[in-house]
Amino acid sequence: MKTSADYPIAAIANQTIRPYTDLLLHDMGEGLADHRGEFVASGREWKTPPLWGVGLLQNVQGHTELLHDGRARNYAEAILWHGGEAFSAREKFRTAPKSHRDALVAFLKSL
Ligand code: HEM
Repeated sequence: MKTSADYPIAAIANQTIRPYTDLLLHDMGEGLADHRGEFVASGREWKTPPLWGVGLLQNVQGHTELLHDGRARNYAEAILWHGGEAFSAREKFRTAPKSHRDALVAFLKSL
């Protein structure tokens, strides 16, 4: 993604960034639903958080609790809670060989 060219702070204008999010709302299925809609988001939809910096959670916050209500204790649990539109991504992770799952978690920790 590219930051706005006319952003008033020149140092952060027109920069290429890799926030690892599409910034969209997604239906994440029944498992993550709270059935409380908010503005345009239904009770099953959540904004995709930037994964940029997610590897620093332990250092910054002293824990790795993830998802909108902190229910996931680590990266693998967060992925395994994915349903709805993210079901197939979850299943690819769940059924991948351990070495691939470990590599993905190592990648998240590097962000
Ligand atoms: C292998 C692919 C994926 C990985 C590694 C991944 C990883 C993660 C992680 C670590 C979180 C927790 C972030 C946090 O709490 O700050 C998260 C949340 C989320 N992801 Fe993914 N994700 C993947 C695929 C997807 C896909 C395909 C979608 C949508 C189609 C999606 C939508 C979301 C949403 C909406 C949340 C927030 C859910 C909530 O807060 O309850 N993710 N993802």
